[in-house]
Amino acid sequence: MSFANWYNRTLNRIWGFVEDRTAMRRWALRPQPEFSFKPSYWTGAFVANAFFFQVLTGALLLLYYEPSTSTSATYLACGQATGTLSPAPAAWCSTYYIIHSVPMGSLLLSTHLYGAYAMIFLMFVHFFRGYYLGVYKAPREFSWMVGTLLMLLTLGMGFTGYLLPYTQLSYNATNVGLVLALRLPTFGPLLGPFLLADGTSQGLLSRMFDAHVLLIPLALGALLYAHIALFESHGIAPPASSDPLQRRRFTDKESKSQVPFMPHILFYIGKWALLYVGVLFGIAALWPWQLPTYVGNLAVTPGVTEPDWYFLWLFKLVDFVGVTPVIAIGATTAILLFILFVPFLDLSKRTHPRDRPFFVWLGTSLLGFFVLMTVWGGETPGVQIFPMTVVETIAPIFLVNALVFGLFHWRYVRSYRRRLAARAPAFVGAYGPTRVRAGAAPNVGAAEATGP
Ligand code: HEM
Repeated sequence: MSFANWYNRTLNRIWGFVEDRTAMRRWALRPQPEFSFKPSYWTGAFVANAFFFQVLTGALLLLYYEPSTSTSATYLACGQATGTLSPAPAAWCSTYYIIHSVPMGSLLLSTHLYGAYAMIFLMFVHFFRGYYLGVYKAPREFSWMVGTLLMLLTLGMGFTGYLLPYTQLSYNATNVGLVLALRLPTFGPLLGPFLLADGTSQGLLSRMFDAHVLLIPLALGALLYAHIALFESHGIAPPASSDPLQRRRFTDKESKSQVPFMPHILFYIGKWALLYVGVLFGIAALWPWQLPTYVGNLAVTPGVTEPDWYFLWLFKLVDFVGVTPVIAIGATTAILLFILFVPFLDLSKRTHPRDRPFFVWLGTSLLGFFVLMTVWGGETPGVQIFPMTVVETIAPIFLVNALVFGLFHWRYVRSYRRRLAARAPAFVGAYGPTRVRAGAAPNVGAAEATGP
């Protein structure tokens, strides 16, 4: 027997044993069609993997971190190590200790920080992929809405974690964020006591710490459970291009080619997860995070206040002359409400981006807006911008997008609909007088339309 045969037989035997003793088929995630063996179908799983990595590295950091602003004599040596004569706050000292004295501490802290960036970036990829492919359409509206809450919580994790090293930079940026949150009509005053506790720096640090290590992760875990349960009940969204109609279920061919989640899909996702961890460690080893100076260090000139990259756009918005915190928060709330309710706003019957030009235009314009504002915020933090410059810089994004989408729509939509009509003659009427080629063969789309 060749080695390959022996290897496969042994692996099957071991797996058969595990499956039999754990009754895994009954509780493991459901099988998925073969077409889902592509990274783009598992962007959410990559975000979940990034979340688990954060929980693990965060738990290890908790062994050493001290959420205290105390500057007692115990922390004198720590302040002196940085060249000042005063003691540094305990939270900053414990972070300094993790970096300089804990074995592999710098690597651990850097992977946790870069892992947060990666999780937020992957979450945006997951979100935009879903938006462009219209996966929020029936029956996945609630999956989308729970996802929006997950997005808020993930950004909340970033916001609360930023203060924990207790650097002057993070302290200033957190205060700007808090001013924005507290100016919220109605909710602001309610949030005040919760966010600020007794109004002292210690109160604020404790609240951020509690939220970062307990409250938000618990809420995130619970919502993630609901998100995956909904995903399980609907199955993965079929490819938008494979069928003229929005599809709720798979074709017979796809159903027949289902692959069990255990071990195939798990191993497939696991392979990407390992790559993720490897890349993260590589980046953290090559470019370890540098700890900025601590809160209240008078020996260092304060630098420019800047948040992490994912909040830069909001910071820049407040730099616009005439944009008050209430307007900035109002605009953010409006964007969030749009994202939350987009499943009920986009009434087009089909999921393919070519059938939803308005929403694709809006999504692309907003994406351009966020990228521009983020770069702008990074380049000129705190620099005031006058209304004329705002209009001249931002309006072209929306106008150029409208022009490109308009031209594209005008050029391609007719031939596209003709092709669709040829595939599903039952739906020719849905788009007006598109002529169907004589003898065009009907296809799965027509059969599916009668499905649930
Ligand atoms: C912490 C953030 C998030 C995590 C961990 C997460 C996780 C997941 C997972 C594991 C899936 C299963 C399929 C896949 O792997 O892609 C999924 C699907 C889905 N997610 Fe998320 N998600 C998050 C955020 C979001 C956001 C922000 C949205 C949109 C607002 C969203 C909307 C959806 C939808 C509609 C599906 C079903 C997609 C399909 O069937 O192909 N998720 N998510």
